[in-house]
Amino acid sequence: MLRSSIRSRLLASLLVVALIAAGALSVYFLKELEGFALRKLEERLSAEAQVTSALLGSVYQETGGSPGSGGAVEPRVLDRALQEVSPKIASRIRVIDAHGRVVADSYTSKPTSEDYRRRREVEEALHDRYGAATRLLPDGHVALYVTAPIKARGRIVGATYASSTTFSIITLLRNYREKLVIVVVAFMITMLLLTEVFSRWLSAPLRELATGAAAFAQGNMSVRVTPRGARETRDVADAFNRMAAEVDAVMTELRAEERRKTRFVSDVSHELRTPLTAIRGAAETLLDGDVDQADAERFLSTIVRESDRLARLANDLLSLQRIEGATGELPLRRIDLAEIAARAVGALAPLLDEREIRVEVSGEGAKVLGDADRLQQVVANLVDNASRVSARGSTVRLELQREGRDVGLSVLDDGPGIPDDALPHLFERFFRAQPSRDRSTGGAGLGLSIAKAIVEAHAGRIEASNRAEGGCRFTVWLPMIEPDAPSEAAS
Ligand SMILES: Nc1ncnc2c1ncn2[C@@H]1O[C@H](COP(=O)(O)OP(=O)(O)OP(=O)(O)O)[C@@H](O)[C@H]1O
Ligand SMILES: [Mg+2]
Repeated sequence: MLRSSIRSRLLASLLVVALIAAGALSVYFLKELEGFALRKLEERLSAEAQVTSALLGSVYQETGGSPGSGGAVEPRVLDRALQEVSPKIASRIRVIDAHGRVVADSYTSKPTSEDYRRRREVEEALHDRYGAATRLLPDGHVALYVTAPIKARGRIVGATYASSTTFSIITLLRNYREKLVIVVVAFMITMLLLTEVFSRWLSAPLRELATGAAAFAQGNMSVRVTPRGARETRDVADAFNRMAAEVDAVMTELRAEERRKTRFVSDVSHELRTPLTAIRGAAETLLDGDVDQADAERFLSTIVRESDRLARLANDLLSLQRIEGATGELPLRRIDLAEIAARAVGALAPLLDEREIRVEVSGEGAKVLGDADRLQQVVANLVDNASRVSARGSTVRLELQREGRDVGLSVLDDGPGIPDDALPHLFERFFRAQPSRDRSTGGAGLGLSIAKAIVEAHAGRIEASNRAEGGCRFTVWLPMIEPDAPSEAAS
């Protein structure tokens, strides 16, 4: 029963209810019927007794005698009178005189000499009261007795004693009981069928839910169920759908994270392979000997350059890891963004000279709370990128601006700009818009992702866009602090 289905539980409970209801109703109905039939029988006997009494009363009145008084015509008249009524009545009619003796009987011509006054109902009638009784006969039948007084000239001269067995009632009840059993059985079968239909209808949404949940458990994250049926099952379906959506989203996120990690690892190994191959090639050629001085120097400088690149790559990855993994741990100071810009440009001066790029700084800076070295790294990377894509002799511009509570620093160049499909990926690790060309210039594609991580650790944001007049614009936005607010240095 514990693990039984809703259907069988419903079936069992409905059957029990139906059985009790049908049983109780049957018992009640049969009892009522029995009572009704007995009342009817008693009424009939009473009517018969009264009619007979009235008839005999008038006979006595005419003959001037009384039952049992010994008058010669009396028994004959009495018998005739009784014979006249009895075919029309199914009951047994006895005529009793004032002394309680039977003087005529519709069933037999030899009445007993028993004193009927001992019977309470006869005694009642002889005292002009209504008398009735039920008795169990020796043959097991129950009989009903009703008496009515016979009056002549205002005196009670005897009583009419009407009786009948309740045999016909019992037969009637047995008949009804048999019919009832059939009705109850039919009722139960109907109930069973109805319950079957009902329970199917009720449990269908639950079964659908179970199927959905099973499919979900097997890994089909897109499974959703249609809320159907009763409010409760609907609620469960809704809850299931919400849970499924949540798990689905988390799983998608986890898978994406997994993919990012895998890609990151393969990107890192790919990045390592290029300089390592170059170093190995140069070293092997040198080992072979038979290399002239100029070539040897060239190979050695390749080894040094590529080793530097490896070291830089390792450094970049490390700082990216640190920045992304440890938010809120940057040593923050009140610094001016204009100052940061100037420092970055100063540090890049030799490189910019070599590339023959001029840098112009314009606009007014503002105080921000930040880590000067990290922010300088951001600006340096933006200027480095801009100078790398700009033609010799051109100018890279740095613009400082304020907008609301933010201060912005834009780096603008006249380079080729960024392809539209590359824009959304610009800040991803190892992303290069023109891989072959960029790698040859030494970029690993980490600069912008490091910049983004740093800016975000400062509660700021970084944007990139193509300029209408050509080239592109990178802007760093940082929350400004009040120029004369007290120092909030934190570390
Ligand atoms: N100003 C720019 N104009 C055009 N393309 C740019 C510009 N800045 C960046 N890019 C593109 O975005 C890519 C990613 O830049 P990012 O600074 O992250 O890497 P990188 O400069 O290639 O290498 P790294 O900075 O790690 O040495 C670059 O490879 C380049 O293709
Ligand atoms: Mg760069």
